[in-house]
Amino acid sequence: MTISISRDTGLSAEQAEARERIYAMPLETLNPANPDHYPSGDIHFVFERLRHEDPVHFTPTEHTEHGHYWSLTKWEDIQAADTNHEAFSAEGLITIAKYRTPEQVAAAFNDGTMTQEQMEAVAAKGTRSLLSMDPPDHEIHRGAVSEGVSPANLAAMDPLIRERAGAILDALPIGEEFDWVDKVSIELTAMTLATLFDYPQEDRRKLTYWSNILSSTPGTGQAVETEEERAVAVREFFVALSGMVNQRRSEEPRLDFLSLMAHSPHSKDFTDSELMGDGTVLLVGGNDTTRNTITGSVYALDRNPEENAKLRANPKLIPSMVSETIRWQTPLTHMARRTTRDVEMKGKVIPKGDRVGMWYVSGNRDEDKIENAAAYIIDRKNPRQHLSFGFGIHRCLGNKLAELQLKIIWEEMLARFPEINVIGEPERSHSRFIKGYETMTVVIPRRN
Ligand code: HEM
Repeated sequence: MTISISRDTGLSAEQAEARERIYAMPLETLNPANPDHYPSGDIHFVFERLRHEDPVHFTPTEHTEHGHYWSLTKWEDIQAADTNHEAFSAEGLITIAKYRTPEQVAAAFNDGTMTQEQMEAVAAKGTRSLLSMDPPDHEIHRGAVSEGVSPANLAAMDPLIRERAGAILDALPIGEEFDWVDKVSIELTAMTLATLFDYPQEDRRKLTYWSNILSSTPGTGQAVETEEERAVAVREFFVALSGMVNQRRSEEPRLDFLSLMAHSPHSKDFTDSELMGDGTVLLVGGNDTTRNTITGSVYALDRNPEENAKLRANPKLIPSMVSETIRWQTPLTHMARRTTRDVEMKGKVIPKGDRVGMWYVSGNRDEDKIENAAAYIIDRKNPRQHLSFGFGIHRCLGNKLAELQLKIIWEEMLARFPEINVIGEPERSHSRFIKGYETMTVVIPRRN
């Protein structure tokens, strides 16, 4: 298929039409949390318009299935909210999502495989995690596991990741189409996750399965079709997780996340809903994000041949390419907070108790902060200047590990393959939160 691109706008006819449609919509109907905007990339037109016309935007309940919420779309406002946990509380929420009553949560879990205590904890609150806590609890929960990704632990993981990356790449078919997401991105991140959890390597795809389920919305063509199906898999993960944490308690302390949780001096005070919440964030946090950045880097370099040539001519650009990909891809579109008091921003008052989406995916394309922000430029002046890891006390715990995996896989790829060609368009995730790829077909014509 030939796609004709306009010389004036750089947009295809389809994109130009989508942009026009979005600019014709009444402003109050713009709903950035609508997952339908993401697979096509239309979301960038929604945010482009909001940054110019209504940077602190209110979506009323009648225009969203998630209940009313606010959207911050400019870099400076997102950073201001993310670094002010007193006015913007993380307690009890991670994303702009549908509200579920404790009874609905309990009904979804109640099939008799969890203990009474676990059930009550989940039914009372849903899960609670380090990512959905304010100080002082946040410091205690983050502190319990942070050694798992300490510089010393990462240095110990480096050769392991390199060996695995090499083995994955050596096993790839040459001259044949295959799905990059499954064969490389998922495989490498699943191996790293199994190490972080000290989970048997041969069962690593079980971790991928649980992570996919935990981060999916039923009925959107992702991992599961129904709430019931999702609840069964989530319960299975929780039962396995609490079994593993209990097992670690009877063993010598080690540096995997589960052992760190089990032996933390505070963990006896952690509720079941907190252990499940922390386990979920540690599982999901490192999985889809890194996976989608690996896939995104191959896609972006294929679509930007000049950048690809720069990288191949100068492999020292790998770290800067990795940061640029993390900005350009923005693997997590947003995080949500709730105001603890009335907050004024750009002349509007966000009332106390309302939910606010900090849209990193929009801030990362804010022209007032980043020059030529829509473009993918691997040697831009300040590539680490991006919002993708968040700011403030919740700033991504695994950011160095994510960068390390990306750096290693690219060093190993450049050493092996002179070309990787993306065939057609990848299938993108239908999600308001995880910006990524379900599948991407590639061909590697030959080895070096
Ligand atoms: C490119 C890859 C990644 C991206 C884009 C990413 C993004 C993020 C973002 C946006 C946050 C929330 C920041 C905020 O609220 O201010 C976060 C938190 C977190 N991430 Fe990552 N992440 C990535 C990789 C990883 C990896 C590999 C791990 C491995 C363990 C990880 C673990 C966590 C944890 C535990 C938190 C919660 C921190 C807290 O609440 O204190 N992430 N991440």
